[in-house]
Amino acid sequence: MQASGESVEIGEAGAVAAALLAWYDLNARRLPWRALPGEPRPEPYKVWLSEVMLQQTTVAAVRAYYAKFLAIWPTVEALAAAEDADVMAAWAGLGYYARARNLLACAREVARLGAFPRTEEGLRTLPGLGAYTAAAVAAIAFGERAVVVDANVERVVSRLFAIAEPLPGGRTAIRTATDTITPARRAGDFAQGLMDLGSSICTVRSPRCLLCPLSDHCAARAQGEAEAYPVKAAKKAKPTRTGTAWWVERAGAVLLVTRVGKGMLGGMRALPDDAWSARADGHGTPPFPGAWHAGGTVRHGFTHFDLELQLMLCRDAESASLPEGEFWPVERIEAAGLPTVFAKAARLALANR
Ligand code: ADE
Repeated sequence: MQASGESVEIGEAGAVAAALLAWYDLNARRLPWRALPGEPRPEPYKVWLSEVMLQQTTVAAVRAYYAKFLAIWPTVEALAAAEDADVMAAWAGLGYYARARNLLACAREVARLGAFPRTEEGLRTLPGLGAYTAAAVAAIAFGERAVVVDANVERVVSRLFAIAEPLPGGRTAIRTATDTITPARRAGDFAQGLMDLGSSICTVRSPRCLLCPLSDHCAARAQGEAEAYPVKAAKKAKPTRTGTAWWVERAGAVLLVTRVGKGMLGGMRALPDDAWSARADGHGTPPFPGAWHAGGTVRHGFTHFDLELQLMLCRDAESASLPEGEFWPVERIEAAGLPTVFAKAARLALANR
């Protein structure tokens, strides 16, 4: 599509929306949180929960977590009444743990208000609820016309309009272009249609343009360059940080701490460590003098850095100056809700102790 020539654009924008919705009517993925075209809209709680989980995470990974959350907390009021530690533990493994903290803060505010606000603007006032989630919930749960842009939409739209400005700066142009093709009715189906198209046909590599309902409108395809979009700024190399985690065992139980604050993995249970972070290596000093022995190394990729985490073990810990925490039965370690990097370390400890 051309981004200029307004009278032509209105007609073509309508044709794009119509072609996409017709494709979605036949090809919508069946997902547990989704109403199929023509069915009543899903409850806002389900839409909101799934959309928070789906940010930065694949549909395949989200399915089991979504089912677990709904089984334990079937309503937003139930979630609002949950203990922080239980929600953080149930989230363990999904990553980006700030989402879980925000989820709880938001659930509590919705419970206080009595219901989800029904507009994009109202949803934006909820704690931790960003532009994407507000637009997605407004469109999918409440049928409001909202412009919903996630990574799949970004790819489809940047190709459709051959938007050459590299990401992240190009996001403004992509949003504006998405606005021009978003229909007044069925904006939720339209958004989810773009997402499904992006995940099945307009894929990162080898897009299947011959099957695409929008190929006649696609400027990148006309250039023979679909794969070249979205254009991305050169990535910075990821640093590798090193750190140490301490496996402190006594009488069949291991010491777990609760990480403080809103920083990395804040609020999650974890092994004690030496304060490694995205910006600095850990200090390497044990929390108390003892008979430590090396238990191997765990490698874990975070968004902005890779971590090499050395594991040190101390069994029969007797020190008077243990870090503050709880001794957790080793045989029930799976139930502690450790984030993935520490779950890997725990598995290594169990193999090497
Ligand atoms: N990714 C994020 N939200 C989605 C949705 N509603 N449908 C499919 N994929 C998604």
